[in-house]
Amino acid sequence: MSTPWHPQFLFAVCQTGAEAALKREFVAQNLGLRPSFSRPGFVTFKFDQPCENPQGFQLHSTFARTWGFSLGKVSGDHASELAAASWQLPGVAEVLMAIKPRDLHVWQRDRVMPGEDGFEPGPTALAAEVDAALIANSSIESLQSHRYGQQGASQPNTWILDAVIVEPGEWWLGCHHASRRAACWVGGVPPIGQPEEAVSRAYLKMCEALEWSALPIARGEICVELGCSPGGAAQALLDKGLFVVGIDPAEVDPVVEAHPNFVHVRRRSLDVPKRDFQRAKWLTADMNVPPSYTLDAVEDVVLHKTPSIRGLVLTLKLADWSLTSEIGNLVKRVRSWGYRDVRTRQLAFNRQEFCLVALKSRAQRRIKRGASQRRIRTDAPHSGVPGKMHGESPS
Ligand SMILES: C[S@@+](CC[C@H](N)C(=O)[O-])C[C@H]1O[C@@H](n2cnc3c(N)ncnc32)[C@H](O)[C@@H]1O
Repeated sequence: MSTPWHPQFLFAVCQTGAEAALKREFVAQNLGLRPSFSRPGFVTFKFDQPCENPQGFQLHSTFARTWGFSLGKVSGDHASELAAASWQLPGVAEVLMAIKPRDLHVWQRDRVMPGEDGFEPGPTALAAEVDAALIANSSIESLQSHRYGQQGASQPNTWILDAVIVEPGEWWLGCHHASRRAACWVGGVPPIGQPEEAVSRAYLKMCEALEWSALPIARGEICVELGCSPGGAAQALLDKGLFVVGIDPAEVDPVVEAHPNFVHVRRRSLDVPKRDFQRAKWLTADMNVPPSYTLDAVEDVVLHKTPSIRGLVLTLKLADWSLTSEIGNLVKRVRSWGYRDVRTRQLAFNRQEFCLVALKSRAQRRIKRGASQRRIRTDAPHSGVPGKMHGESPS
């Protein structure tokens, strides 16, 4: 950064309904942040003292899909006027003297919960229009080759400008440093589409969980899935070349059932004999039961049936948002089984639930991932100490 710049506001984007949980998380980290403007799915905070080191600033969050520094908002009726006003915002002008943005992320805040009324987070026609208007009104050289929707993921460790469409006529401008995997995705949503043959939304959730967590999964390994019916997540795992042992008393879709690398054990997880878990390296679970019950079922496998399970991908249901206060204890319990690298995130494609991934050690992650990826961060392991969060660190 050339000119010193000390941001005073932060923004974060989350699932609609998760705002209170997100505010609690941010405030608990004692970073001197006070909640400011808030709409469903979009929250801003004010720093008590301007942030001294914006590039190095990190926070830990389960519920922030993405976050950055807020630079102000524009409102009006016409996209081209709003775009011109965006570049003239004092906060934007100031930041452009300090950073050289390599990309522009434009997205709409969520309307409703993912999966409701056919809504899924991701690119929209309005965001494409706003993106085009901003680019047409900008003379920033590094953005001239930018094309909406063609980014996939932005280059890691670069500065990115953000425009969040909070309402069609109200855009909030911001910027963030793409130092975490999810920060490279527009609005924190990975570019994943659900194939027509996917038998449930769980396909999207599993793809996103694997993208975000970058677990060192290899083709040909065996994964056990607790609560596999109808089979979307199993399909995603099969597409990655894994063998899947699906455990669920309910029926599995015939498309999945017929896959040569899929075996269905039609029982409740606690009733499955030890031999059915043999040689499994990975365990995933997505059961419509309280988180403590899911952990009971997982514990039964990793402590008694297959101690060789290297990593876990668990969907934990939040029947009630007040259960978010239990996340620290759930993480502690998973750590007590010998999983030292435990991370939590409410995925973009999650509903009222969140994803917990765990690995026996961080070293496993380094072995699998090549040198080219070493400098990008995943979210930091959970500290497991409520109220005391660690910043993110290179993986
Ligand atoms: C949300 S669905 C799972 C979706 C699935 N993972 C997919 O990819 O389509 C929840 C499933 O958990 C199963 N379930 C609930 N309790 C269970 C238990 N004790 N053992 C195994 N499965 C269980 C239910 O039968 C139900 O099919």
